[in-house]
Amino acid sequence: MDDERSGGLSPTSLSGKRILFGVTGSIAAYKAAGWVRELTTRSALVTVIMTAAAKRFVSAMTFGALSGNRVYSDMFAEQPEELMAHITLSREADVLLIAPATAHTISRLACGMADDLLSTVVLAAKIPIVVCPAMNTAMYSHPATRQNIDRLRELGYHVVPADSGELACGEEGSGRLPEWEIVQEKLIALFCPQDLLGKRIVITAGPTRESLDPARYLSNRSSGKMGYALARTAARRGAEVTLVSGPVALAAPHGVTTIQVVTAQQMHAQVLELSGAADIIVKAAAVSDFKPTTYRSQKIKKAQGFTSIAVEENPDILAELGRKRRKGSLLIGFAAESRNHEAEGRRKLLQKKADLVVVNDIMGSKTGFDVETNQVILVDAEKSKQLPLLSKEETANRIWDHILTL
Ligand code: CTP
Repeated sequence: MDDERSGGLSPTSLSGKRILFGVTGSIAAYKAAGWVRELTTRSALVTVIMTAAAKRFVSAMTFGALSGNRVYSDMFAEQPEELMAHITLSREADVLLIAPATAHTISRLACGMADDLLSTVVLAAKIPIVVCPAMNTAMYSHPATRQNIDRLRELGYHVVPADSGELACGEEGSGRLPEWEIVQEKLIALFCPQDLLGKRIVITAGPTRESLDPARYLSNRSSGKMGYALARTAARRGAEVTLVSGPVALAAPHGVTTIQVVTAQQMHAQVLELSGAADIIVKAAAVSDFKPTTYRSQKIKKAQGFTSIAVEENPDILAELGRKRRKGSLLIGFAAESRNHEAEGRRKLLQKKADLVVVNDIMGSKTGFDVETNQVILVDAEKSKQLPLLSKEETANRIWDHILTL
């Protein structure tokens, strides 16, 4: 069995990334201070540029303290090291994030103006530029702003759409600074290869629940973390992802269509319907193999002398997909094992006609159910490969790397 230890190409965080952070004059500048903190606690290296208007909302000292770096704003600074800041700042960064971006800044950038340090840095930059608008709803929906945002997109800037809700001015609508989680996903995606671009991928995750009575059900310990990590990492790498999820305590991943189901029958129906258009199906869900033969509509009482549960088998979704598979599509299964890991993985690969089976060890304290890490064996028709102990997102990226070789 091969043992793969080399590092993956797709990052799962912004650790070590150099972020040039432009702040402009909106009340949402206070949220930008929180974002700088989020970035530095995740070991990103942040340098802030503020416009003159931004400094009227939050002081440069705040951003200096949070970033641990000097804050730039003066185009005509006298210190020799700042003379070429409009060029050097972007040369020493991996990405330029402008948040909040006011209607005024967006309009100036759309025209290619260079009348302050931030706009000049933008013109001189050769790195990806991410723009996060924040303004009043009427300003955001004004045709002039819409055109300016379209123009920024034509220029190749990544504009994250504003969020909707209550605005600082008291009005309701779109124009709120987007949520940090969405922006963070966008930033991480910029550092990932777009090698799944255009691929339609269906992923199942979590357990299923098979009800016995209104209070009780049969299920298993699956947390859904591995399937959700697969969905997030595939979306970052450009795929169009649909996640069919059993009941879990996880937030739906950004940029992914999530369909919630409860029972194996419901998962079966959803996956079969989606399978016709899918290029890749990954069955990471821990489907309940059995369900109670009868559902009692009233709670079963202790006094009834209940001693056993009659069960029947659920459909094996992966095996059915294997029988009905579309030519050219890829089918990936998982195997949750407590012993004979590789042999069981190979048996399931053959029996269920999958292209790859990812074998999980459910006995280890750092692998399997509900932990943040995993160590899996990838079993395909030709060989088996043991991956090192990694976070579930890193494991997910290695699984995609392997799927791309199939
Ligand atoms: N699977 C499925 N439908 C089922 C049971 C399992 O689609 N009713 C899929 C799982 O999503 C996983 C693979 O089959 O991708 C293997 O699941 P696992 O629970 O490890 O194996 P079983 O088929 O249940 O076999 P065994 O009980 O022998 O371990």
